[in-house]
Amino acid sequence: MAVATPQRAPYPATRLRRNRAHAWSRRLVREHALTVNDLIYPVFVLDGENRREAVASMPGVERLSIDLLVQAAAEWVALGIPALALFPVTPAGAKSLLAEEAWNPDAIAQRATRALKAAYPDLGIITDVALDPFTVHGQDGILDDNGYVLNDVSVEALVKQALSQAEAGADIVAPSDMMDGRIGAIRQALEAAGHVNVGILSYAAKYASSYYGPFRDAVGSAANLKGGSKLGYQMDPGNGAEALHEVALDLAEGADMVMVKPGMPYLDVVKAVKDQFQVPTFAYQVSGEYAMHVAAFEQGWLKRDAVILESLLAFKRAGADGILTYFAPEAARLLRAAELDSAR
Ligand code: PBG
Repeated sequence: MAVATPQRAPYPATRLRRNRAHAWSRRLVREHALTVNDLIYPVFVLDGENRREAVASMPGVERLSIDLLVQAAAEWVALGIPALALFPVTPAGAKSLLAEEAWNPDAIAQRATRALKAAYPDLGIITDVALDPFTVHGQDGILDDNGYVLNDVSVEALVKQALSQAEAGADIVAPSDMMDGRIGAIRQALEAAGHVNVGILSYAAKYASSYYGPFRDAVGSAANLKGGSKLGYQMDPGNGAEALHEVALDLAEGADMVMVKPGMPYLDVVKAVKDQFQVPTFAYQVSGEYAMHVAAFEQGWLKRDAVILESLLAFKRAGADGILTYFAPEAARLLRAAELDSAR
């Protein structure tokens, strides 16, 4: 005999589980979605030819020479990834105190930009504006005799670097250095040189984070930096409101898009920035976030595919318009597979 469901009042006035009961209704009420259009892929570029190196602290990430990068990019373009962010691995011999290699028209980032734009005119190329890959001390600017990172002198160098990247064909220059006033100075210089449609993605709220460790290994600035910290220019992880001040200044100086970095530990900042300014807001799931995810995947402690997509969806929920992530191609493949799945 069937057991009758016990009748018992009062019933819940609202049953949130009703909408969760079916796949179709979950899809219907879902508020946020991740698509390939949200992904920017950061890549590490080597000098020379036919060179490929693993990054020990970022399993699955490789540094590639320009020829191999151009080859590999065919798949990323086919997947529909809108843009790449380029990070050159500068040979030790090309580093100096004044970082002159940063605006050498034949430096790695400039050559990579030309090669990628020639092969894939519709692929967005974002170049990093900061001096740390080019300084012998690994700091993002030029030092005085006491080791202080000089602001205005560094901004002059950053302007030269941004101009040389625009000259090479960069679509967007992305200052990640955190000097004061650099967005306005770069915007003015780009306008004066006729690069009116070269955009600026400002690393507006960039924190002095310990999550950047694997990146510094990847570009080879960790050893140069030794014990040095970037707390004199990058933001204090204890600050939230200051991020809004930074973003307001960068927008007033002419930034087209702003970024918060790192990503997952700073999603409160992403949300605050998007809520307050309603401008294109990006977040960077940085090297340390990638490394800790992959470490857990390799231990079998987290499910790789599901966690990658969940980690990126969280950025969308926080209000990010796009995400810089080392998982970009893998996430794009997963999204494509899911699309084919739901079409069946
Ligand atoms: C350098 C720069 C850094 C990153 C992007 N650009 C490192 C730093 O500020 O020391 C970090 C990216 C990552 O960790 O994935 N200006």
